[in-house]
Amino acid sequence: MTTTAISPPPAHPVLDVPPVVEEHLEEDERAALTERIKRLMRERDAILVAHYYTSGDLQRLAEETGGCVSDSLEMARFGHAAKAGTLVVAGVRFMGETAKILNPEKRVLMPDLQAECSLDLSCPAEEFVPFCDAHPDRTVVVYANTSAAVKARADWVVTSSIAVKVAQHLKERGEKLIWAPDRYLGDYVRRTTGADMVLWQGSCVVHEKFKAEGIRELKREHPEAAILVHPESPPEVIALADVVGSTTQLIRAVEQLPHPTFIVATDNGIFHKMHAVAPAKRLIEAPSGGRGATCVSCAHCPWMAMNGLRKLARVLETGENEILVPEPIRVQAVRSINRMLAFSGQAGIQVAGMSGD
Ligand code: 13P
Ligand code: SF4
Repeated sequence: MTTTAISPPPAHPVLDVPPVVEEHLEEDERAALTERIKRLMRERDAILVAHYYTSGDLQRLAEETGGCVSDSLEMARFGHAAKAGTLVVAGVRFMGETAKILNPEKRVLMPDLQAECSLDLSCPAEEFVPFCDAHPDRTVVVYANTSAAVKARADWVVTSSIAVKVAQHLKERGEKLIWAPDRYLGDYVRRTTGADMVLWQGSCVVHEKFKAEGIRELKREHPEAAILVHPESPPEVIALADVVGSTTQLIRAVEQLPHPTFIVATDNGIFHKMHAVAPAKRLIEAPSGGRGATCVSCAHCPWMAMNGLRKLARVLETGENEILVPEPIRVQAVRSINRMLAFSGQAGIQVAGMSGD
């Protein structure tokens, strides 16, 4: 692996992470809201694009109404291809912004505009842009979990399903990289490809809490289990994985691998889809707190939890919470996202790229 002499980017202060507050609905309210939302979606020519970490209610509704539930790469692709005039994005802000950047002619709404992401928050454009400017010899690769302004400074956007392949491609072209914001994903990609990468020091508040020792204990209790890990997790957790991959890739692993049991190190919202595709398999949540846990959001993203049916109905009714991206930023940012989409189309990204294939 190539070492680099340049100084690392600044470390970031601990973020103020909100508590996880889930929406709880009685059956009759759920049914009434679902009907109301379906009617509003028809009237407003709207389609729902949801991430796997959102509630089962939202995931079910997206599928019943012809929308999509997927990882962040597929959310971007689906929203781009959709014919509807309004995209409602149930996820976190960067997902809504990506949809708007790709679809300036469509209206993009989100149930809650406070739904942030710790990776995005750890990489403010005011700090990131001068850092990139100080290293003009490096190609700038940013994770989709960033603001529109950071994407506008990037040469490439990647998601977890495509990160290794893009880095490999750039390495083969002899390029040196700046990688932001996730230091764990960046470290995994650097070790996998041997690319010369300087890593921004962001992290995901959910995935950084998974504990290798607790996972080893679980594996001793369940030797028949395969361990599935999202690459935003720390290296000692990734080292235990049978499969490292994006949310879609981890779901496919549950569906396709012969193991009867899986230990899953990612946000527990993913269990809804995993149960749906493989009802006979046993799924065990990887421990994220461990003894003396201090995590605020053990295995569930507090910002993803801000999405719910009540808020969705309200934004459809009022048109509130529209995502807007200033045009000069959008035209810059769309280039790095389109590069990713074109590359993923050529590379035929599906389950390929999982370690353990
Ligand atoms: P995926 O692209 O794998 O869905 O990841 C998005 C994310 O925010 C994971 O924490
Ligand atoms: Fe961001 Fe982590 Fe939440 Fe994903 S799970 S949206 S990376 S904070």
